[in-house]
Formats: sequence, structure tokens, C-alpha cells
Amino acid sequence: MEKKEKKSSFTGQLGFVLAAAGSAVGVGNLWRFPYLAAKDGGGLFLIIYLILVLTFGFTLLTSDITIGRKTGKSAIGAYEKMRHKWKFLGVLTFLVPVVIMTYYAVIGGWITKYMVAFIFGQGGSAAEDGYFQSFISDPIQSVIYAVIFMVITAIIIYRGVENGIEACSKFMMPVLLVLIVFVAFYSLFIKHGDRTGLRGFLVYITPDIKELTIKKFMAVLLDAMSQLFFSLSVSMGIMITYGSYVKKDVDLNKAVGQIEIFDTGVALLAGMAIIPAVFTFSGLKGMNAGPGLMFISLPKVFASMGAVGNVVGAAFFIMASFATLTSCISVLEAIAANCMEVFHTKRHSTTLALGIIYTIASVVIALGYSVFYCEIPLPNGSTGQLLDLMDYVSNSVMMPFISLLSTILIGWIVGPDWITDEIESSGVKFRRKKLYIIMVRFVCPVIMVALFMQSTGILARL
Ligand code: PHE
Repeated sequence: MEKKEKKSSFTGQLGFVLAAAGSAVGVGNLWRFPYLAAKDGGGLFLIIYLILVLTFGFTLLTSDITIGRKTGKSAIGAYEKMRHKWKFLGVLTFLVPVVIMTYYAVIGGWITKYMVAFIFGQGGSAAEDGYFQSFISDPIQSVIYAVIFMVITAIIIYRGVENGIEACSKFMMPVLLVLIVFVAFYSLFIKHGDRTGLRGFLVYITPDIKELTIKKFMAVLLDAMSQLFFSLSVSMGIMITYGSYVKKDVDLNKAVGQIEIFDTGVALLAGMAIIPAVFTFSGLKGMNAGPGLMFISLPKVFASMGAVGNVVGAAFFIMASFATLTSCISVLEAIAANCMEVFHTKRHSTTLALGIIYTIASVVIALGYSVFYCEIPLPNGSTGQLLDLMDYVSNSVMMPFISLLSTILIGWIVGPDWITDEIESSGVKFRRKKLYIIMVRFVCPVIMVALFMQSTGILARL
């Protein structure tokens, strides 16, 4: 009767590491990390972030990937296999990419629009006041770009793990690395009036601890923590799905280290590219633009560089599109993989159905700045449009909650051995084993509660 389909997999460690790094490296590294570093005291943020990557990030990433490889399943099936009663956690985890996917292609569309503008030498007009606003509130253009991005993502998923995801990551990630190194070093040598890129670099790496209070330190800590989550793509089932495609002989210990280095390295380089450039051309106030940093401040910086600005700008936005595309495919793959397992459907039909659903969703979210414009008050005090609401629900509410439950499940119910045995099953020694056990049982649960309370606004009310 029905022949069991061979489980898809990455060809080896390199393919897996590049795909996982492809998921991890995204707008979070290029825009959010530099923005937070500038806001949160430069080097102070960097030091805290680095410590968190090596402790907290390492724990969450190791857990997700190992759960995937050991069970050979995506979130829903994986948590069910760990403990039947905990299937709900799998379903909850599955819902994170389901929500994120509604808006990720919209952001991808924005970046593609800027990439096209810079490649065709129209960087100057992209730097004009109101360009971004008029683009996102144009119902036709914003929808077209979002749909293009969505369709490309679906095509890659349609092609499968090896020929789609791995092939695309193996090409895009090295190119991305070369481009970010180029922009970062270029940034050090720029000059404008009496400001230089090098001085901006010092602002970036020097810890600013003047007027540091405990309250401010806590705020920086929580910023760094939520950035870490988002950046490593953990607690959303993506790394569980990717982990399920890893062969048993791959050294997970090493792979986790490499993914951490890649993701953090790109974030540090992005800061090195952006902070000195913005500092040189508009002083540090240009960094305060928040989300506008990437689409408003940066194009202005590129335009002030003169003709070469188009080249640097094109390099930056090509890199940003690659980063966003490899992240976007990981989101869709996590959804598709869960659906294929739960409904026993084939990749092609699943991708087709999801492609249609998410094209419609992306259109709705893209229209959230025009036809469906609304102002939604969020519990953390800000107001946002549809996209911000989806972002808030997935990143600030669901992810800390899922991590909390998942560390409790590993640390206290199935026990850390469940994870460490799997890592050592490929014949390697788990080097940071003690650290892992302490983190997963004690430190992570406590910090997750704090993060959850902060992002839902409960902490502020205490
Ligand atoms: N990790 C990505 C980044 O740093 C973001 C991302 C979020 C990717 C959700 C996939 C899913 O930008």
C-alpha cells in the first residue's frame, strides 16, 4: 500500500548550519540590533548581549534543535512525542510562525522595493522625506512587492529541503557575509564635516555607563533578552523543524556554536556598518528613528555619500533582502512541515495551499497602512497598525511564554538528560553540559517570567 516517504534532510553539517543561520540572520540583526545598541549604551548592550548569547541563547538553541533531531518531528509532533500531555505546547509553538508569516513577507516587500530603487540608481528619491510613508500607504505598490516576496518564498519551499532551502542558503549566506563585511569596513572610513566613521565606531563599542541605574540596567537586560529570542529564531518551532532534518552523525554541539557565531557576528557587523554611518552624517539622533532607521535614516545616509552611495545602498539592501528571504522561508517551512505531519499531506499540495492563504494574509496586512488603516493600542503602551499587532502577539507575548513552558518541560519533567543524551549520541562530548543543565532548570524559567511580565506590561504596573 502506501509507501513511507523518505524523510527530507540537509546534506550535512554545512548545509544545516547555513540554513539555520539563514533563519537566524534577518531584519533583527540588520535593523533591530544596531538600533538597540545605540539606544542602550553602546558597549554596555554589546557586553550584556554577548553574555546572554553564550548562556541563554545557547540553551534555547540547543534545546530546540535537539528536540527536532531526537523526535524527527516538527513542533506539534515533537512535543507530543516528548510527553503526550504536552502536545498543547506544540500547537502553541506552531502558532508563532503562523502569526509571523502574515507580516514577514510584507517587510520583505519593503526591503525589495528599496533594493530595486538602489539598484536602478534611484537612491536619491528613496532618501526624500515621505518616500517610505507614501510607499507603504500606496495600496497597489505595497501589495505588489509583498506578493512577489511571498511567491518567491513559496517557490523555494515547494522545491524542498535540499533543493530549495539548503541550495538557497548555501548561495545567499556567503554573499550576505561578504556584503556586510564590505559595508561595515566602508563605514569606518567615511568622513563628513568634523565627524568620522571611526569616531562613530568608538561610540558604538564604548560602554556608556554614565547615569546607569538599576532600573535602566534591567531595561537594557530585557531589551537584549527579547532581541536574542527574535534573533536566534528560537521558541517558534523553526529550529525544531530544521533540527528534524539533521542527520544523526552531525555534531550538534559544534553546529549550535557555529550558528551562534554567525548570527552574532552579522549583528555586530551590522552595528559596525550602521552606527558609524548614521553618526557621521546625522549625529546620533538619527539612530533614534526606531523602525524608521532602516527605511528613512539609512537611505538619507546613502544619499549623502554621493554617487558611491548608490553602490553601498544597493549592497546593503541586496544583503537585507537575502537575510529576510532566508528567514521568511524558515517561517513558511515550519508551518508547512507541521501541516504535512498532522494532515499527512504532500509537500507540493501543502505549499500550494499555504501559498494561497498567506498571499491573501500578506495583502491584508500590507493594506493595514492604507485601506485597512487602524490604530491599535498595545498593552506595552504603544499604538500600532495591524503589522505591529501581529508582531507584538508573536514576539512579546507568545515567545517568552513558550520558552518558559519548554524549559520547564525539559528541566523538570523529561529531564535535561533527554537532551544531553541525544547530543552525545553522535559520539561527541557535550562540552557545555553543566552550563546547559543549570540554565535550563533554574536560570531560564526565572528570566522568562520576568521577560513575559515586562513585555505584557505587567511589570510596569507592579
Ligand atoms: N531571526 C530573524 C531575525 O533576526 C527573525 C525571524 C523571526 C526569523 C521569526 C524567522 C522567524 O531577524
